Amino acid sequence: MKIIRQKKDFNRLFSKINSFSFVPTMGGLHKGHEHLIKKAGRRNKNVLVSIFVNPKQFNSKNDFNTYPRNFKKDVQILKKLKVRYLFYPKFKDIFLFKTKNKIYLHPFSKKLCGKYRPGHFKGVLDVVNRLLEILKPNYMYLGEKDFQQLFLIKKHIVKNNIKTIIIPCKTVRNQSLIPYSSRNMNLNKHDKYLASKVFKILKKEKILIKKRRGKKINLSHIKNKIFDLGVKKIDYIEALNLKSLKKAKKSNENFNIFSAFYINKVRLIDNF
Ligand code: PAF
Repeated sequence: MKIIRQKKDFNRLFSKINSFSFVPTMGGLHKGHEHLIKKAGRRNKNVLVSIFVNPKQFNSKNDFNTYPRNFKKDVQILKKLKVRYLFYPKFKDIFLFKTKNKIYLHPFSKKLCGKYRPGHFKGVLDVVNRLLEILKPNYMYLGEKDFQQLFLIKKHIVKNNIKTIIIPCKTVRNQSLIPYSSRNMNLNKHDKYLASKVFKILKKEKILIKKRRGKKINLSHIKNKIFDLGVKKIDYIEALNLKSLKKAKKSNENFNIFSAFYINKVRLIDNF
């Protein structure tokens, strides 16, 4: 695996490569990333994974400082998956150039996580836009767990006429229904038990609502159930229509339940 640190090295190595798939990450690689990488590899032998912990998308210093970093282990995982290229840039190589595109923040950025993490999506779009300007990949693989991120990146790409094609990938979960996420590394055994209980409640609720055809959706009791488990902080639990992105009112709409809550100091998000 070639580890690329600078744009000039990328340009040299990729001058004869016509097409490649890109998987952007912040490291702390897990089975969810592995799924994206394997899917990328099935489309194109040339897979480039980036590892860059983007300080601009953290709205809390503590979250940035405690974000799991394990470069050696990440490299082992990438080698095992036979990834050909790793882009591992420094801060200045990403942020010290003037971009061609302007960041486009769709109004959906104000909802869900946007309400609770000011500046987060602007930071995500800034780094993704920069990565795309440097690398110009043909395909980019993103997980559906981060539904809002995926949606906003797509809108930014369309608005700026960027040629990269986005490939959304299903959320991968462990046996306890917990979606894989780098932040899970900061959960202890009891935290994981609690998280699993919450996800099970949310999944069960979605199934129940779906069974009550045409009835009103009411999620107020769900929050109480989750607090009763011992969860101290919930940012949101909302059913949103997947087309209009407005609150889903009735059970026959095409909706997902979106959630963000804290287990200890770890913020988890999901959508079913
Ligand atoms: O989903 C992530 O890991 C990050 O938000 C991304 C897309 C790599 C941008 O830093």
